[in-house]
Amino acid sequence: MTRESAAAPGLREPASRNPIVAGNWKMNGDHAFVERYVASLREADLPSAVELVLCPPTCYLSALARADLGIGIGGQDVHWLDAGPCTGSVAARMIRDCGATWSIVGHSERRIGLSESDEMVADKVDAALRAGLRVIVCVGETLAEREAGSAETVVLRQLDTVLARVPEAALAQIAVAYEPVWAIGTGRTATPEVAQAMHALVRARLIEMNAESAMSVCILYGGSVTPENARLLAREQDIDGALVGGASLDPGDFLRIAGAFAERATGALQSRAAGA
Ligand code: 13P
Repeated sequence: MTRESAAAPGLREPASRNPIVAGNWKMNGDHAFVERYVASLREADLPSAVELVLCPPTCYLSALARADLGIGIGGQDVHWLDAGPCTGSVAARMIRDCGATWSIVGHSERRIGLSESDEMVADKVDAALRAGLRVIVCVGETLAEREAGSAETVVLRQLDTVLARVPEAALAQIAVAYEPVWAIGTGRTATPEVAQAMHALVRARLIEMNAESAMSVCILYGGSVTPENARLLAREQDIDGALVGGASLDPGDFLRIAGAFAERATGALQSRAAGA
């Protein structure tokens, strides 16, 4: 894995925020998969400049947490209530009790597939923060919304509904993942420029809320991230990491993606904004 090095002249200064590379396993894996994955990570040299997070299905959280790999463990969703008659759902404090320190909230596969509204997502973020979890808040437009020219409006609406429920003091506990729906699982990635433009918009909104905290919030890109495209994405000013689906099922690919962002963090990767 990448070694830390001081930024050479002309190369990007180390980012003030450590990148986050999170793997969303979605509904994949079993106990044997967890064991193989853990064994691979134990043999690897994990990049210290990147915060790694793995989000397995809920039933494998404890097994992954018990492996004590020194990385973040996250749920893929939480309920908005702390307890109650909600058959099949899992509360944020339960995720926490299983060893998670993070949760994804608002993934489009739940917003669209399970009709989760912006308000439900905001309630879930509130519940996760109450339980002491850090939250990866997913936002992103569909292809129809992009083609209709409303991508920015949709993303800002999704973001604003959540931010209205996040106290300024808790802003540092969230990361935002921009995941254009048309890029998820399709092999079609947003170009670095398209992603950067949306990330800059998200950053501007965060700055309006609290200029200082906004600079420490990681804005992750998600949607067909691979080891190949990660290095290009990582060169963009406001792409502070990735939320990786399919490629995170291969520990080697996951770590190669993390390696690209480690290079960004240590200044070894030339910034496009610096004129590369
Ligand atoms: P893919 O990387 O498989 O496109 O999935 C992205 C995603 O939805 C991560 O949450």
